[in-house]
Amino acid sequence: MEPHMRLPLAILYLVLIVSAQKNRTFTFPQGFLFGAGTSAYQTEGAHDVDGKGQSIWDTHTHEHPDRIADGSNGDDAAKSYYKYKEDIEAVKEMGMQIYRFSISWPRIMPLGLPNIINQKGIDHYNSVINEVLSNNLIPMATIYHWDLPQHLQDLGGFANDDIIIYYEAYAKVIFENFGDRVKWWCTINEPYYQAFGYEGTLFAPGLNSTGIGGYLAAHNMIKAHARVYHLYEKQYRSKQKGRISLNMPIDWPAPRDKTSTQDQEAAKIELEFSLGWFAHPIYSKEGDYPQVMKDRISNFSLAAGFPFSRLPSFTSAEVEYIRGTADYFALNQYGSKHVAKGEQGPDPSFDRDSGVVMTGNKKWPSSRTSKWETITPKGLRDIIAWIRKEYGEEWEILITENGFADGGQLNDTLRVGYLATYMTDMLKAIYIDKCKVIGYIVWSLIDSFEWMSGYTSTFGLYQVDFKDPERKRTPKQSAYFMANITKTREIPSFYAIVTNKLDKLEGL
Ligand code: BGC
Repeated sequence: MEPHMRLPLAILYLVLIVSAQKNRTFTFPQGFLFGAGTSAYQTEGAHDVDGKGQSIWDTHTHEHPDRIADGSNGDDAAKSYYKYKEDIEAVKEMGMQIYRFSISWPRIMPLGLPNIINQKGIDHYNSVINEVLSNNLIPMATIYHWDLPQHLQDLGGFANDDIIIYYEAYAKVIFENFGDRVKWWCTINEPYYQAFGYEGTLFAPGLNSTGIGGYLAAHNMIKAHARVYHLYEKQYRSKQKGRISLNMPIDWPAPRDKTSTQDQEAAKIELEFSLGWFAHPIYSKEGDYPQVMKDRISNFSLAAGFPFSRLPSFTSAEVEYIRGTADYFALNQYGSKHVAKGEQGPDPSFDRDSGVVMTGNKKWPSSRTSKWETITPKGLRDIIAWIRKEYGEEWEILITENGFADGGQLNDTLRVGYLATYMTDMLKAIYIDKCKVIGYIVWSLIDSFEWMSGYTSTFGLYQVDFKDPERKRTPKQSAYFMANITKTREIPSFYAIVTNKLDKLEGL
């Protein structure tokens, strides 16, 4: 080559590499799925209509309005029981593929018992699913999103291991009636937070059995999930050909002081106590609870005079039965937190057992309406990479929840920034860290009843006017933003700069 040609060619080569890199970083892979999600109690309303039974959230909000920030409840919520067609239309409008919703157990079985089935409940979800399909969307159904029939709670709920056969009987009715059309299943949404309904008072049923109730409930939820996975495997998979998982929440735990070995240790323990508690038995090669949980809880229990560990144990047959009972990894991710070694909470309690304390970080940007939600997209990338390292690269990860809380305004610029930067870091996990992330479902499609925050903090891409008896829905700026993302399948490159800045936040 002529020497005078070398420089221009080198420059051209460089430009090509840089632009290829740019496209790789901000463009969504082919076949990547987008969606938006809701849950029954948070949106449906119609709490005592058409034969629906009472759920633990009906009881919790009616008997303890003091535990809800604005004393409200989900009696009417966003009235999605009546307005589901509009909701589904909204998913379509945004050019997404998946609508994730949950099925209310007490709408299908008013008492939670399989001998009384409420046909109107079956009819309702048939209409929802058919509407989703007729809009060319994919229905993803969560079988249980925290609204246990109160009657089953009166018998102990998830603390009583008979729940396993009742949950299996319920799931059987679900597969029989809807499995011909639903191919994506989530068995239990965030068993971690459901367990906290037994550990504390914030979530229903609010048992406050610290250090005992949460472990019992979690143990039975893991077994119930596995039971339903095997049920599907044996009786439905060959015909219905669906995919099953359960949703795992995790806020990324960063050591408060990166140079402190104690704080680094606390971050590792926190990962195991929060995500590993449910993920290790299912996704790890060896199965069972994380060793650090088994050791710590057993030591504390024996030292306090218990003749056994407060963490129930699986037999080796159960370890085998539970291991591998998922077809994909369903990840719910929102924020990050600083952790350090320390003692907090009553004795005994989950908090004491972990020996980890959360310390706030005022320097990280966060939601104004949600105390716990930081804008730290790197946490999403880090947790995806951790899952790959910990459980193996073979697991496909679907982000089943990611979203931002605000006061419901239409001009939700912060939410747009949140979604854009989280998706950018998710793409880095795909392209740079080589993780298999197959889809991204925004939480939430519409503003809804936000558990203990009531309606003071909402996550919707669509605003719902809760003062209007018609519950008018209006797309927010973020809905238009998501519509543009699904159309261009690319994140505007401006957000790369913002993401890089956020990734360098001190202490992350
Ligand atoms: C739950 C949703 C909830 C969201 C925001 C998740 O833990 O699955 O029901 O609305 O977080 O708090």
